[in-house]
Amino acid sequence: MKAVVITSEGGPEVLRIQEVGDPEIKEDEVLIRVSASALNLGDTYQRKGLFPPPPGSSTYLGLECAGVVEAVGKNVSRWRIGDQVCALLSGGGYAEKVAVPEGQVLPVPPGISVTDAASLPEVACTVWSTVFMRSRLSAGETFLVHGGSSGIGIFAIQIAKYHGARVFVTAGSEEKLAACKDLGADVCINYKTEDFVARVKEETEQKAGVDVILDCVGASYFQRNLDCLNFDGRLFIIGFLSGVVTQVDLRGLLAKRLTVQAAGLRYSSSENKAAIVKEVEQNVWPAVTEGKVKPVVHKCFPLSEAVEAHRLIESSKHIGKILLLP
Ligand SMILES: NC(=O)c1ccc[n+]([C@@H]2O[C@H](COP(=O)([O-])OP(=O)(O)OC[C@H]3O[C@@H](n4cnc5c(N)ncnc54)[C@H](OP(=O)(O)O)[C@@H]3O)[C@@H](O)[C@H]2O)c1
Repeated sequence: MKAVVITSEGGPEVLRIQEVGDPEIKEDEVLIRVSASALNLGDTYQRKGLFPPPPGSSTYLGLECAGVVEAVGKNVSRWRIGDQVCALLSGGGYAEKVAVPEGQVLPVPPGISVTDAASLPEVACTVWSTVFMRSRLSAGETFLVHGGSSGIGIFAIQIAKYHGARVFVTAGSEEKLAACKDLGADVCINYKTEDFVARVKEETEQKAGVDVILDCVGASYFQRNLDCLNFDGRLFIIGFLSGVVTQVDLRGLLAKRLTVQAAGLRYSSSENKAAIVKEVEQNVWPAVTEGKVKPVVHKCFPLSEAVEAHRLIESSKHIGKILLLP
């Protein structure tokens, strides 16, 4: 099969499409013929040598895909050859075929093309497992997502609205904020021209702040995130775009009874991933099927143009997801 190979650590130009061996499936795995795979910013870190695949997983890039089941291991009970599916991967999506444990596989939601379905598993599993399973965002609460136009952001806005939250976003341009508003965001903040802490306070009852924050910015936002959380607020950190080391005044944590959590989906066990995928099918797929949560695909590239796709995601000019088509 063909796959995108990282020829050495470095910039997008180190990616090459090459002929490689087909993956072999284990007894509890399915082999998917990939119709589409989606980019995640983490792929660029792996390309630079900063985000290695977990032991035992494919060394090729690609954390999600959609396609058709081509073979099943002898212990696989749910999936049949020919099923249209999408999957959460620990790696290997930038290829014509990928092997994945059956618990990480989802049906393509009715009404969604198999290509667009590739844009959903990683963002759905990340947002559901953090904002809902861990931070317990509930109807009537307020929710702030940084990077509102990112792959994560465009999904988080829609699923939080679907579950009855009031949604705040930050993004770096008016065009990105307009896209967030179209997806249902209630309060859109340009972090380049506004102080998000002041605006969040201004827009919340009694200037109390929001109940839950999903953050990918890390160090430079840590204190400010704490400053704009409500009493009993929950901060969930999934990335460190601004760095990893910071100082914090602990008094706010105590006075406001705050909770801070962080997690990386890729390094959780396949059992844990399967538990998340199961919850996503129960709680997110109905929203997708109803058309209340839509895939937002910015651009599709052929697999042979992975270099250009990586240049685009690193430019931050995109809104939503970027796909690769083998
Ligand atoms: N922990 C996990 O399991 C997990 C899983 C998936 C993703 N993630 C993380 O989630 C984040 C989003 O991933 P993605 O693939 O959806 O990314 P993406 O589509 O590439 O979007 C990233 C966005 O972040 C914004 N950004 C960059 N620097 C920023 C800054 N200093 N302050 C505020 N916004 C900034 C950019 O938009 P602007 O133009 O608005 O700046 C950019 O569009 C990444 O940090 C990724 O590593 C974590």
